[in-house]
Amino acid sequence: MEAKADYTQAFVLFGKVVAIYLVLSQGWKLIRGIRNHILSGWFQTDLKQYGRWAVVTGASDGIGKSYARELAKRGLDVVLISRTLEKLKNVASEIEQKYGRKTKIIQADFTRGSEMYESIENNLKGMEIGILVNNVGMILSKHPERFLNIPNINKAITDTINCNILSVLQMTRIVLPQMIERNKGLIINISSEAGNHPFPLLIVYSATKVFVDFFSRGLHIEYQSKGITVQCVMPLSVSTAMTSNIKTNIFVKSADDFAREALNTVGYTNRTSGCFSHSLQSYALDLIPKPVFSMTTVTDLFENLVNKQKKKEK
Ligand SMILES: NC(=O)c1ccc[n+]([C@@H]2O[C@H](COP(=O)([O-])OP(=O)(O)OC[C@H]3O[C@@H](n4cnc5c(N)ncnc54)[C@H](OP(=O)(O)O)[C@@H]3O)[C@@H](O)[C@H]2O)c1
Repeated sequence: MEAKADYTQAFVLFGKVVAIYLVLSQGWKLIRGIRNHILSGWFQTDLKQYGRWAVVTGASDGIGKSYARELAKRGLDVVLISRTLEKLKNVASEIEQKYGRKTKIIQADFTRGSEMYESIENNLKGMEIGILVNNVGMILSKHPERFLNIPNINKAITDTINCNILSVLQMTRIVLPQMIERNKGLIINISSEAGNHPFPLLIVYSATKVFVDFFSRGLHIEYQSKGITVQCVMPLSVSTAMTSNIKTNIFVKSADDFAREALNTVGYTNRTSGCFSHSLQSYALDLIPKPVFSMTTVTDLFENLVNKQKKKEK
């Protein structure tokens, strides 16, 4: 009888310890969420402290354009890099007129290989670059597809690796040395929530975003003692050309709102969903047991939905 009582007491004690752990860990997450997404809006980090110029890849549209505008609004001159000259010129003149900041545009296609970086490097020589936003990114096909169904797969693989991975490595290689010399710098790498879980039908894109996340976390550890901050931003849905300009709502952010909120988190967290709404959604997704993401039925269901959408569009 005594042994049974001891067991019961041990179970009760264990239950209490688990309950206290859960309350404390979730409470801590809540406090960090409030700090990163609410207090950060009131007490913003001065981004000018990192240096005069910000460089943004994929800056002529979507999230990159909004980052470029918001950085200019916060007092930085901005280098805009992407493919379409006309779009770059429009963003540059808007920034100069509205915020009175200097701009420089560099036309480049990041799907090309290493040889294109010599010209970018020459263009950026001698500039005091305080902030690098590695934003450019692409998905492989218009619709989510199983790996072998990706149209023009051979080219799509190379383009995506070059655009989503090589660009992050090469731009960091170019910009980091002068940051280290000045003992100051901020590198913001745009990953995705798709890099947090395996995302069937988007697996290559999702895997490139895991790379961005791991690279950012490791780079931060390697160079934080040299005054460098590396932040990885992992958004959910933002209304841009990539998401067919989906309507904004409490789940889907506009690019401008997203960039503003995400820049507020600088100095508060080095790994973030970027905004309050996306952090809550990411938290909810984390509560789903991991095996659910691996269920073939979930993938089949998703594929059916995609096929229905494709039929509608025909
Ligand atoms: N939108 C979302 O819901 C979402 C969610 C999670 C993560 N993200 C990530 O956020 C980043 C930006 O996405 P977004 O939605 O803003 O995309 P977007 O609307 O398609 O804009 C992409 C930008 O990159 C430029 N670009 C595209 N391909 C390029 C290339 N090969 N070389 C040079 N520039 C190129 C585009 O301009 P040009 O066409 O003129 O070159 C444009 O300025 C990406 O890394 C994406 O993976 C987006």
